[in-house]
Amino acid sequence: MKEEGKQLKVIRCENYDTLSKKAAQYVIEKVKQNPSLTLGLATGATPKKMYAYMVDDYFENKTSYEQVKCFNLDEYVGVSRKSKNSYYQYMKENLYQYIDVQEQHTFIPNGTAENLEKECEMYEQQLADLGGVDLQILGIGENGHIGFNEPGTSFHAVTHVVKLAESTRKANSRYFSSLEEVPTHAITMGLETIMKSKEILLLISGENKAEAFRKLMDGEITTDFPASILRNHPNVTVLEEGAKVEV
Ligand code: PGA
Repeated sequence: MKEEGKQLKVIRCENYDTLSKKAAQYVIEKVKQNPSLTLGLATGATPKKMYAYMVDDYFENKTSYEQVKCFNLDEYVGVSRKSKNSYYQYMKENLYQYIDVQEQHTFIPNGTAENLEKECEMYEQQLADLGGVDLQILGIGENGHIGFNEPGTSFHAVTHVVKLAESTRKANSRYFSSLEEVPTHAITMGLETIMKSKEILLLISGENKAEAFRKLMDGEITTDFPASILRNHPNVTVLEEGAKVEV
């Protein structure tokens, strides 16, 4: 099984700060190489400090995002873009309000669209029209989800509406006033969409992700653990800290 994990390049980091700095440097370098890069972006706790370092760099070195396109992985269904819990607001708060990215170059599914199926199709098409993602940033759920592709999702899924796993709702309830308030559904890029990215940077931080990290490296490639599909991708770099497990 380990053989199949060979393509995943792993960089183990000392701590969350180092991981975040390295992730930011990685992205910044790619933007410098290709100023009209299409970035795939993730939300959640893990990439927050990476965004903070990108913002610092923007102020210090003026790395420009004017021609960069940004596509987010996912958004909650039923949560308005005005809500502090929307990933739309997360991106504004953590990154977009500070840098020179153009609003019309930032894409995120609309979780309150009247026709969610159509919204998914449109999102997939917008991404395809721009030539797909050049560099996709990913986090990972304790259950192995990437984006909101929960265990059991087909490896062939494109952007779609997903029912969130109860463990995911529980994990994310820290941002809401109660578990009941956590949305039950989300729109997510599918695993096939993610796998079409030319390059992937996966961030894994914290002891609670140790089991997911181990499974990613050593486990089977199975829809029961969605992130395992990444082992079939030719260009994935994993930045990891805190797992304290040998792989
Ligand atoms: P986290 O979320 O970065 O908040 O742990 C990751 C995920 O659930 O994909």
